Amino acid sequence: MDIKKVGVVGCGLMGSGITQVCAQAGYEVIVSEINNELLNKGLASIDSRLNRDVEKGRLSPPDKDSIFNRIKGTTDTKDFNDRDLVVEAAIENMELKKKILAELDKICPKHAILATNTSCLSIIDMAMVTGRPDKVLGLHFFNPVPVMKLLEIVKTIATSDETLETGQNFGKSLGKTIVIAKDTPGFIVNRLLIPYLLNAIRMLDIGIATKEDIDTGITLGLNHPMGPLTLSDLVGNDVVLFIADGLYEEFKEPQYAPPSLLRKMVTAGRLGRKTGKGFYDYNK
Ligand code: 3HC
Repeated sequence: MDIKKVGVVGCGLMGSGITQVCAQAGYEVIVSEINNELLNKGLASIDSRLNRDVEKGRLSPPDKDSIFNRIKGTTDTKDFNDRDLVVEAAIENMELKKKILAELDKICPKHAILATNTSCLSIIDMAMVTGRPDKVLGLHFFNPVPVMKLLEIVKTIATSDETLETGQNFGKSLGKTIVIAKDTPGFIVNRLLIPYLLNAIRMLDIGIATKEDIDTGITLGLNHPMGPLTLSDLVGNDVVLFIADGLYEEFKEPQYAPPSLLRKMVTAGRLGRKTGKGFYDYNK
């Protein structure tokens, strides 16, 4: 199927990044938010990232304008009634995601593919609230979306080969490299990433090293772009905890059990960059 019109539900960190890369790839995008304040905040973040590309000489001003003009914001999901593909990028809450998928199923054309950017939730559970489970799949993007080259595609037992192929072609058209995973908690990347991040937090918790030395050990010792505690702050410590809880619930393996320090950090609102404080202080 030929995708021309894309919808994105949610204009937060992930939704705004997905909207941006779709518009940059030439798609006409409608992005929705629950209110105008969040919508305008998300659109402003896209505008400022594109302006930075102009300042850096990576984008001409007319190209920036045409990319931005391909994006339309809305607070009314009914505007998705002509979309070929919609990516849901709301917060990680199964009941909310089911509600969104069921609503999209009613509004979107019969041929439309419904995708979710969930990082760990069961996609077949979401697919089964729609009348088109064969057209539902996971399109899992990575943060920051405009920079990260990977797109993890998640195929449920109900996803059709045609839907998978359309998803792959769509991902490639965004300039992403595709990996395909089964619909299991954490898919490929988070199933490996989360125990690694949890181990770093455990090491900090029991005083094996300082946070700076844990991060330096990994950045210089393994050539990672950032250490695990900085990465946990980037992903969001609440998101790390949420995924870890989901993995532990499914597999009951100690490697996925969240350390108490992580839970305390989340309780204290130290979610990372988005709240200004996590393992590190971003207000300084
Ligand atoms: N949006 C768009 N572009 C961004 C960006 C953002 N939020 N943050 C950084 N960039 C771009 C900038 O354009 C910058 O280029 P420029 O200076 O020429 O404009 C370039 O990235 C490099 O940025 P910085 O110089 O500020 O910093 P770094 O060199 O440290 O790079 C980084 C920042 C790209 C975030 C890099 O540190 C990195 O790749 N870190 C690892 C990120 C990662 O692992 N992400 C995956 C998380 S897991 C996930 O998302 C899955 C989920 O389910 C949990």
